[in-house]
Amino acid sequence: MDNSIEIENLTKIYSGRVTAVDNVSLKIGRGMIYGLLGQNGAGKSTLIKILTGVLKSTSGTARIAGNDLNKDSLKIRRITGVVPQDLTTDGDLSGRENLKLVAELYDIPKKEAEERIEVLLKMVDLYDVRNRHASAYSGGMRKRLELVCGLVNTPEVLFLDEPTLGLDVTTRENLWSYIRSIQKEFKITIILTTHYLDEVDSLADELSIIDHGKIIISGTSEELKKSLNGDIITLKLKNDDEINKIGEFKNATEIKLMENKEIRMKVSNSDEILPVLMKYLSDNSISPESINIRKPSLDEVFIEYTGRNINAEQENKDYAKFMRAR
Ligand SMILES: Nc1ncnc2c1ncn2[C@@H]1O[C@H](COP(=O)(O)OP(=O)(O)OP(=O)(O)O)[C@@H](O)[C@H]1O
Ligand SMILES: [Mg+2]
Repeated sequence: MDNSIEIENLTKIYSGRVTAVDNVSLKIGRGMIYGLLGQNGAGKSTLIKILTGVLKSTSGTARIAGNDLNKDSLKIRRITGVVPQDLTTDGDLSGRENLKLVAELYDIPKKEAEERIEVLLKMVDLYDVRNRHASAYSGGMRKRLELVCGLVNTPEVLFLDEPTLGLDVTTRENLWSYIRSIQKEFKITIILTTHYLDEVDSLADELSIIDHGKIIISGTSEELKKSLNGDIITLKLKNDDEINKIGEFKNATEIKLMENKEIRMKVSNSDEILPVLMKYLSDNSISPESINIRKPSLDEVFIEYTGRNINAEQENKDYAKFMRAR
C-alpha cells in the first residue's frame, strides 16, 4: 500500500524548553484509520498542528499525499481537513451556516458548496436540525457538526484530534460509526488522536503509542497485544517481605514492582501457571490482598510500553477540558 503520510525525524520544542514532539518518524498507509494513542501532554495535538501547517516544526520533515510540509504548505491545507480538539464552530450560527462559512474560507463556488453541505448534513443526521443554532445542539450533535466541518473541502486526509473527548459512552460509539462511514464513503485517510483505548481498538486499522513526544511502538492492535508474549497476573501485596519472596518465583517470564506494592507478572499461560503460583504463595505464607489475571489487552500494552496506566487521573482531566471547550 502506498503511504498517505510519511514523517521523518519531526521534532517540536516550544520556547526552546518543552520538547513536545521528539524525533518522530512514521508512515501511514493510504485509506486507513490510524490512531495516535497517548496520555494528556503526550504531544498528540502538537503533532497534528504541525502536520496541518498550524505550527512550524523545530526540525524534521513530513510528506502528506506526496507534498512536502516545509515547501507545499498551501497545497497541504487544501487537501487536508482538520477537526481540532477544541470546538471551533460558532454557537450563534446554525449548523448549516457554520458549514457555509467553512466553504467560503475555501472559496468553494456557492452552488457546489450548497450541494456538498446538504450531503454532509444528511451523512451525520443533522439535516433536520440544520437551521438550529449550534449552541442549542447536544454535545454529540455539536461534535458531529465539527466532524463534517473538516470535510467541506473534500480532503484526502482528515485529522481528528480527540473526536470524542468527554462524551458519554453511547454518544462516543455513535460517533465512531459516523467516522467509519465517512472513511468508507470518501475513502480518505483518517488520523485520529485519543487517549481512549476502546476508541483505537474499535476504529483504528493501525496505531502508535505516543509518550513524552516519542513514538513508543506501532502496529495493529492485534500485533501489539501479541507482542506482550503471554498473560499478565497482578498481585497486591502487603509488605516488602512478601515482595521479596514473590521476586523469587521462577515460573514468571518477568516480574515488575509497580506503585502501591503491586506486582505485575508476565506468564506464558496463566491457566497453567496459576495453580503453581497458588502453591508458591501458600508455601511462602504470602497472602495477597488481590490477584488479577488478564489476557493481553490494549490496557496491558500501554502499561507494558509506558510503565503507566493510561486511565490514571484521566477522567477528571477530561471533564475539566470538556467544560472548558464548551
Ligand atoms: N503553546 C505551547 N507552549 C508551550 N508548551 C506547550 C504549548 N502547547 C503545548 N505545550 C506542551 O507540549 C506538550 C504536549 O502538548 P500537547 O497539547 O501536544 O499534548 P496532547 O497529547 O495533545 O495532550 P492532551 O491529551 O491533553 O490534549 C505538553 O507538555 C504541553 O504542556
Ligand atoms: Mg491534545
